[in-house]
Formats: sequence, structure tokens, C-alpha cells
Amino acid sequence: MRSARAFLLVLGFSSVAGIVGTGTCTTTQEQESTEPLPVLKQYNSRRRREAVQASLHAAQRGSGTVVKSHFIQDEETLLQLADPQLWTKCVDHQSEVGLRFLPAGEKPKNVWEEIALLIWQDHPVVTTKNPDNTPSFAGFEYWCNIITPGDSLDWHVDKDEALGMESNTMVNPIFGAVYYGFPHRFTGGYLELLPVDPQQSPSAEEYYWKDGAQTNQDNGFVASFERIEAQYNRLVLFNVSKWHRVSAVTRGARFTFAVNLWKEKPRKLHINTVDPKQQQA
Ligand SMILES: *[C@@H]1O[C@H](CO)[C@@H](O)[C@H](O)[C@H]1NC(C)=O
Repeated sequence: MRSARAFLLVLGFSSVAGIVGTGTCTTTQEQESTEPLPVLKQYNSRRRREAVQASLHAAQRGSGTVVKSHFIQDEETLLQLADPQLWTKCVDHQSEVGLRFLPAGEKPKNVWEEIALLIWQDHPVVTTKNPDNTPSFAGFEYWCNIITPGDSLDWHVDKDEALGMESNTMVNPIFGAVYYGFPHRFTGGYLELLPVDPQQSPSAEEYYWKDGAQTNQDNGFVASFERIEAQYNRLVLFNVSKWHRVSAVTRGARFTFAVNLWKEKPRKLHINTVDPKQQQA
């Protein structure tokens, strides 16, 4: 027993010495008096196994943030999307019709619906059918969004706005996607994500202050956010039921095409630019 313990101490000590780079040779006497090595605090083996299972399970149900750069590789499509008028028309059209929605299983009727299908075609919710072979989701809600300096997209979650107003219940999409398909030029405008929903933390700000975040006044960067650059031709899939926002655009214009996957068709479009006072509704 005693020799086994001494052996462990030697192993432990030599690995620490290796890290700090001292070549000191020690005697057994000294090792006996060495203070216990600092332990890297981690979960026990049961909890670690649970983490492995949780990760596997999350992938199966299509959870987790995905960032895919240079998403579309078809030149014709990219050139078509490089026309700013296509985007302003998209914005105008949706303010007329309110909700733009492609039901599951239907053929695409325009370039936006084609891209919506492309974005979601490999997602487990889309590829997995119900036992009776019907789709396991209602369809895709989509919209375009152009943010210029002065516009803001404050902390919010995507939800069926109509239901929220009437019954104070919150119904969220299954998952969301944003695609930056216009070769835009701007500064600022990062997608920022928090790992909590309004039930877990009724206020987004409260969450990150509790987390010890520090704001850098110069550029508005708050250390504890997950922050994603809205690079041209980048696709981001993320859980829109959790708090997210777009940081201020300081110059130029930032173009987004967004597509949410819904279990039930929502009755009212998720409002793009959210008044912070309305968020709690
Ligand atoms: C998204 O987040 C909500 C709220 O935290 C959670 O209930 C839901 O399981 C998440 N969805 C996925 C697909 O991860």
C-alpha cells in the first residue's frame, strides 16, 4: 500500500515538474512531504457518462448550434442572391402578407423556399417521419431582414406572437436558421446567443451579469456571450427558444434570411425588430 502511494506521488510530481519546466530531482523524503496535488475539479464518472449520452442524444434530435461557412456552392444561386432588390422585395412582400410559410412536403415556389429546403434537408426533424409516414413537423416560416445603423434587434426569443398575446402561453419553433446570403458590407451586427430561455432566466441581462460578464464600453462586447460573425454565405442553425440578439450595426447594412422550423403552423410572424418593452409579453 505504502509503496503504491509513493509511486503515485512521484508520477504526480513529475508531471507537474514537466509542466512548469523545472528539472529538479527529488528524493522520496521530499515527496512524502509534498502537499496534495491540486485536483482538476470535474464530474465523477457517472456524470461524465451522462454527458456523453446527452451529446449523442442531442445530435439525434437535431439540437445544438451549427455554423456552416460557405454554405451554398452553386454559383447561379449565389449570383441570384447577390441582387439587393431581391432582398428588399422579400422584406416588402412579407410586410404585406404577414406570415410566409412553406408547409412540410410542398414544392418550393420561389428561391427563398428552395433555400429553406436546402437549409433543413438533413435535419433529423425533417428526415425522420412519423410512424404513419407523415411529416413530423408543420413546415417552415421564413423572412428576410435588413439591419442598418439605428435599427436594433434586442434580446428576444422567437415565438408565435398571436398566441402569446391571447393566452400568455409561449409557443416556440422547434429550431431556427439564419443564412447570410447577400455579400453584405457592414460593421458590428454579431449574432449573440445565451444558453437560457425566458423561463430559466426571465431577463437576458440578469443572466449575463450573474455570470460575471464585463462590458467593454468601446465596442459593446460582453465577454460571456457566444458570438457569431454574420459572414457572407454563412449558415447558422440555433435554438431560437433561447435568448438571442443582434448587436448594433454601426455602418453599412446587414442582410439575413431566416427560416424557422415549426411543429404547428404559427398564426403570426415572429416580429423582426422587437421593442424591448414588448419582449416580456
Ligand atoms: C431549445 O430550447 C428549449 C428551451 O430551453 C428546450 O426546451 C428545447 O428542448 C430546445 N430544443 C432543442 C431541439 O434543442
